[in-house]
Amino acid sequence: MASKLVAVGVIAWTISANAEGDAAVGAEVFVSRSLGHCVLCHRSDGVDAPFQGNLGPDLSRVGERLDADQIRARIVDPQRFNPNSIMPAYRRTSGLNDVDPAFAGKPILSTTHVDDLVAFLSRERLGALR
Ligand code: HEC
Repeated sequence: MASKLVAVGVIAWTISANAEGDAAVGAEVFVSRSLGHCVLCHRSDGVDAPFQGNLGPDLSRVGERLDADQIRARIVDPQRFNPNSIMPAYRRTSGLNDVDPAFAGKPILSTTHVDDLVAFLSRERLGALR
């Protein structure tokens, strides 16, 4: 079992942004305050978290509206679609305001965690197995 986990880690490390993510990890990133904290603004039937947000659209069935690449593009740089978006650009490091020097040049999420979020949100469809 341990060797299987190591192998998965190596694959995720060597294949870049379009690797197959882990939907279960993606659900954790979606909720976690120290990672995506997407529930600050979004809700999803796919996670069991209190106080889910409503500043952004309900993402329960986003997998029916957007394909994986479209979901990824919105996480990486939402201002590409709406210059006034309040959603953080989770992978963009330039063109930002008032960045703490300690965080300059560092994206909010790793590519692996973005892959995991894409896997989680892509499976968010009506009747999806949970
Ligand atoms: C500060 C609030 C905020 C946070 C935090 C946030 N979003 Fe958003 N998000 C929005 C808003 C508002 C929109 C609607 C489009 C726009 O204004 O950019 C949106 C749109 C989206 C969309 C497109 C939905 C559609 O139906 O078109 C996706 C996908 C998305 N967000 C994913 C995420 C993920 C994943 C995270 C966490 C990593 C996240 N968002 C964190 C506010 C937020």
